[in-house]
Amino acid sequence: MTYTDQITGSSAYKEGRYEEVYAEIKSVISDETFQIARFASVACMLHQAFTPRFFWTGFYLVDPDKPDELVVGPYQGTLGCLRIPFGKGVCGVAAKAQETVLVEDVHEFPGHIACDSRTNSEIVVPVFDEAGALKAVLDIDSEAHAAFDKVDRHGLEAICALVFGK
Ligand code: SME
Repeated sequence: MTYTDQITGSSAYKEGRYEEVYAEIKSVISDETFQIARFASVACMLHQAFTPRFFWTGFYLVDPDKPDELVVGPYQGTLGCLRIPFGKGVCGVAAKAQETVLVEDVHEFPGHIACDSRTNSEIVVPVFDEAGALKAVLDIDSEAHAAFDKVDRHGLEAICALVFGK
């Protein structure tokens, strides 16, 4: 691995790194039953694996008391906004659609919530429980333009499936 690989995130580099991180995350969280410990460990391990390409890495959780609102959960990075209604910003759009949203240029995304003006691209992946209910979204921001592609989508969707998995 070279520093350039880390910065640019070439596809071959990313595919290999996602495979390694998937196995590491699975091994670390598999015996843990406290859900916040699982979310926090995933955020930490992903952020460490892909820094500096990942500038903000963390979860927004579906608020059990307000099921159409996200509240910030475990994350790594600069201060994130605390609450995001479903349908607002990239996170809220992904939560409402229950689908991954990949944004190459956040400045072109209507309603993007700029928690940190250094962010230029973003990917948000839904997290479901064993019954298929939406529990959270994984939000990753990058200072790079168009930092995320289908390799990230595939790798991150697999990792999000581990959060409530065995
Ligand atoms: N940019 C996000 C808000 C969350 S922060 O970036 C940490 C959005 O538009 O949903």
